[in-house]
Amino acid sequence: MITEYKIVCKGIKKKVIYHFSDSHLTEYDSLSTPEEIEKAKSATEAWERVREHFAHHGGEPYGEYEKLSPAFHFRKLIDIAKDGDALVLAGDTFDYVSNANLRFADKCLADFDKPIAAVCGNHESRRAIPSMGKLADMACDIHVVRLDDINIICIDNSQRKVTADQNEALEYELSIGKKAIVVIHVPVMCEQNEKQLKPSGVYFQFNYEGCPEENLEFIKIIEKHAQNVIAVLAGHLHFSNYALLPGNVPQFVSSQAIVGNINRYVIGDADELL
Ligand SMILES: [Fe+2]
Ligand SMILES: [Fe+2]
Repeated sequence: MITEYKIVCKGIKKKVIYHFSDSHLTEYDSLSTPEEIEKAKSATEAWERVREHFAHHGGEPYGEYEKLSPAFHFRKLIDIAKDGDALVLAGDTFDYVSNANLRFADKCLADFDKPIAAVCGNHESRRAIPSMGKLADMACDIHVVRLDDINIICIDNSQRKVTADQNEALEYELSIGKKAIVVIHVPVMCEQNEKQLKPSGVYFQFNYEGCPEENLEFIKIIEKHAQNVIAVLAGHLHFSNYALLPGNVPQFVSSQAIVGNINRYVIGDADELL
């Protein structure tokens, strides 16, 4: 399912950005060992139940289309995103990082020629991401994809924490005055979404009770530079969520791509979006 949003942003040339997360790929291929094949098969099977549970929990469709394989949906979503100006992958692209999963993603992305802004989710380890290829920047704790008039700032918060160094880099990037989109995996909880997030437990909250001071500092930096932050894009929930964070910064959480969900944002000046 494609969920469409229009974001009015003064002075920004009209562009389309796609965002998805939580594909949880569990691929194997002819180069995989018997153990790897076994692991992939049992992970795929486990996700069949879990993804259905999340769809029901989020009140989202779960019909014949959604039941198609994670690989089918990933290929399809990459194809959909080809007409955009950039693609955001907000984590848990892989259920675990394996050579077969990486080979599969490489193949799907081979003819994808738009910028990709990808962060790790809690299912991925930055250390396991290879230094070559279109997803290489996932290995960074912070990196920036620079479009003409928007920066996409990717921050790994997949372990429900950020460091002082990440905050310092975020503060710097937001203070240069260029409009920015901030990408994280674990969403920020706020007044508007706590009803939806709280029942799922602290595992699904970045700013849970008793979280590190740096997490709260991260949110303060976003609020301080709210005029430059077009949106925060996240994943991890496996259901769709929208809320205004402090400073009225919109946070969009994409639902699970493992059943084919993707967000499409048209961003631009008000008259361009009419
Ligand atoms: Fe996930
Ligand atoms: Fe996650």
